[in-house]
Amino acid sequence: MQTSFERKPLEQVEAGALIVPVFEGRKEERFGAGDLFDAGEIAGKPLELLLLHHVPGVVATRVLLAGAGKAEKFDSAELRKLAGAAVRHLKSKSVKSIAMALDPEHASADFASAAVEGAILGDYEPDRYKTDDDKKSVDRFTVVGAADDLEDAVTRGRIVAEAQNFARTLVNEPGNLLTPSKVAEAARSMATEYQLDCQVLDLAEMERLGMGALLGVARGSAEPPALIVIGYKPSQANSPAHLGLVGKGVTFDSGGISIKPSDGMEKMKYDMAGGAAMLGAMRAIAQLKPALAVTAFIPCVENMPGSRAQRPGDIVVAMSGKTIEVINTDAEGRLILADALTYARKQGCTHLVDAATLTGAVVVALGHLNVGLFSNDNGMRDRVLQAAKSAGERMWPMPLEDDYKEYLKSAFADLANVGGRWGGAITAAIFLKEFAEDTPWVHLDIAGTAWLDESKPFLAKGPTGLPVRTMVRLAMGWAD
Ligand code: BES
Ligand code: ZN
Ligand code: ZN
Repeated sequence: MQTSFERKPLEQVEAGALIVPVFEGRKEERFGAGDLFDAGEIAGKPLELLLLHHVPGVVATRVLLAGAGKAEKFDSAELRKLAGAAVRHLKSKSVKSIAMALDPEHASADFASAAVEGAILGDYEPDRYKTDDDKKSVDRFTVVGAADDLEDAVTRGRIVAEAQNFARTLVNEPGNLLTPSKVAEAARSMATEYQLDCQVLDLAEMERLGMGALLGVARGSAEPPALIVIGYKPSQANSPAHLGLVGKGVTFDSGGISIKPSDGMEKMKYDMAGGAAMLGAMRAIAQLKPALAVTAFIPCVENMPGSRAQRPGDIVVAMSGKTIEVINTDAEGRLILADALTYARKQGCTHLVDAATLTGAVVVALGHLNVGLFSNDNGMRDRVLQAAKSAGERMWPMPLEDDYKEYLKSAFADLANVGGRWGGAITAAIFLKEFAEDTPWVHLDIAGTAWLDESKPFLAKGPTGLPVRTMVRLAMGWAD
């Protein structure tokens, strides 16, 4: 989708449709909307849409009145959704060229970026493998404002949303087509395209490094594992910090020997959503060029119950030297992340964030609305929460007290890989904390938020691309 910014009176904007946000309790009089408010055809409630044709004095072919809710509550997150919903509505009617008006009250750079993000994210469909569909998509999206030049904000929004869609495309790939080696291939070509450093550790190198926790998971599959490392270095760093982004890359999670029930197992192709998001974030970071070093670490494996698979009761030695009793082979994410976190620390990362579809328990705790956020450092926690808030990705802080460590006691090793029945998202995070050690670290459990089971007016069913935007904001807003 091509994007641009125009400073023009709305009546003169050329487009197949001009989206005009209208607010609840604030009767819009332009475009003949006053009568429609009076008739009760639109009230300005959130995501209400009313399409008008041949509006006198307007160059655009159509005007789409788009309910924005109460003006006091309207923020960039609401605008992102509204742009998405409007674009999805218009593209279903084969409109190819769309403009969106920013009213003067809501016309900052953040609003302009959010409008473009909403449009590009809303336009996206996970339809790569549909051969018979009449695929509709939008060609042009223009943000129209009256005051500031928002061209750069529009570009930033496009870069971030395209990176998020890049992640969504990877997440939607099925396990047979996107194996760990294929993720590595995709990472390499992305890195080449955007001039990032890329290195992929293979099985032999991981053996040499002693990554017993990761390799234990990989044993059950005929597909070899890969640890992807992608680095960005600023031309001029304004910070000694080195941010490490670690993402779970299980290309398919059958559960291994502790096999999952077949019902819904097809969804487990999205068990690499954390890894895909970190790749997406790097793609945007390479273009937006923050002033600190950022490196992504993506451990990729397929969790399968092959004849050489690890068994419940096995004891593995992690790269850090800690021993782990594998009670449940389906708790594999924490095992591969343990070694990736250790490796990231050894590579010099001073701050870490991981994203992982780690537990069903986080979905029980928070539903599908909030990412579960865990941290060993209040400063780091606040940085990520702040970035999430401004990026419009909802996250909720969860407890991580040392007392929970007791839940992971093993009679035979330093740690068990699962706790009991209770507090499953917390015990998973406590496990990771043992490997983050004293490095300021945030863990994001995205099991409930990386996939939409039903489409929303502003987003297709399937992968959401969380938390790409937060990671990009975190890097861009970094200041010591
Ligand atoms: N990939 C799953 C977590 C998951 C569950 C993601 C549902 C998305 C939706 C993870 O590897 C897993 O299987 N976790 C187990 C842990 C348990 C064995 C302690 C779980 O949550 O059931
Ligand atoms: Zn699992
Ligand atoms: Zn998993």
